[in-house]
Amino acid sequence: MLSREENDLLTRVRPGTAMGGLFRRYWIPALLSEEIPTPDCPPVRVRLLGEDLVAFRNTQGKIGLLDEHCSHRGTSLFHGRNEECGLRCIYHGWKYDVEGNVIETPAEPAGSQLKNKVHHTAYPCVEAGGMVFTYMGAKDEMPVFPTYSWLGVPQKQIYIAKSFLECNYLQALDGDCDSAHLNFLHKIFKPDGRREFLRYEDQSPAFEVDEMDFGFRVAAIRKIGPDKSYVRVSQFVMPFIGCVPVGREVDGKLDGFKAVYQVPSDDHTTWRYDFFFKWSKPMTKEDSSKRDFVGPDYRKLRNVRNNYLQDRQVQKTVNFTGIEEFLNQDACATESMGPIVDRTKEHLGVSDSYLIQVRRFLLKAVRDFQTGKPPPGLVYDSAHADFSRIRCDVAYLSANVSWRTLFEDTDGQTQKV
Ligand code: FES
Ligand SMILES: [Fe+2]
Repeated sequence: MLSREENDLLTRVRPGTAMGGLFRRYWIPALLSEEIPTPDCPPVRVRLLGEDLVAFRNTQGKIGLLDEHCSHRGTSLFHGRNEECGLRCIYHGWKYDVEGNVIETPAEPAGSQLKNKVHHTAYPCVEAGGMVFTYMGAKDEMPVFPTYSWLGVPQKQIYIAKSFLECNYLQALDGDCDSAHLNFLHKIFKPDGRREFLRYEDQSPAFEVDEMDFGFRVAAIRKIGPDKSYVRVSQFVMPFIGCVPVGREVDGKLDGFKAVYQVPSDDHTTWRYDFFFKWSKPMTKEDSSKRDFVGPDYRKLRNVRNNYLQDRQVQKTVNFTGIEEFLNQDACATESMGPIVDRTKEHLGVSDSYLIQVRRFLLKAVRDFQTGKPPPGLVYDSAHADFSRIRCDVAYLSANVSWRTLFEDTDGQTQKV
């Protein structure tokens, strides 16, 4: 349960809010590379942290992310002409480069200085792993771009499911930090329907949580013999990334995992990116079939307006929900709470311990931020940037071996939950 003040503090992300200010200090996903695939292709609208923006790829392949509305008189640049290294407004032809400089004002008299007096809002972008990331904070506070391990994998070994959630980011993030729902929401009744990642599901695991500088590390530990345990390690990474150990194991090691970004589009909607990858081999057609659950605009075909096409017969005989595809099941659970759930009315239990910790971490981060302390997990000196600790793992360990040996650092502080 949260107080009303805490719930508001955590969920409001528009410009001028505390959480919005904190999130703007991180590099966050803006869109997929495939949405602006080629130089001079049509621009696309991007709504991020409550701001309406337009992304385009210029003639040289550089990406611009601009305020959607022209600095002259506000026409949408979404309708603009993407030509010769700039985006040109269709109303009077003002032209912008990727940095927001006004490079032409053709309706003004020759020699006009107007273009030199205007700077259009533009956010820097970095492309990695098939995603375009942006930084929306002050220029002099820009951190090093975090080169997480999953962003360096060859593109063929990656697939990303992007989807639009009609609820606040924190609802979706709560779901990522809630392993208890796996045995209910995602349950399949057929004996062969047991999911790979639910191995040993019958034994309720013990959880150990280490608070890290970047967020949390969570180990789910299941005893599988008198002196053996099976450990799955997940991570929560600031500002809204959940890394989960899904996928096949090869010789007892994970061949990749999933990083889920719950990116606030505004206070009431979220862009969810499920970033899957394999270390060893390309994705197959089957792997990427999961994308079929959204249309070309990344909106879900099953959604709150058609009750997720829930089939009550399927609910009796096939799976727990009567809804196909786990991302739809997650969406139904989180969106049906309403755009921003009233957390003063919750009744949290032991199974909610992890999400309670994540909320506490975020609350502390945002309150510290309000008092001028630096946001957690950011690095400003590329010489000291090491993101290799941020990963998932699974392991079969002897009773006397700690899962922490999987990670060579020791900066965590152990807490049992
Ligand atoms: S409104 Fe864009 S050039 Fe006039
Ligand atoms: Fe789920």
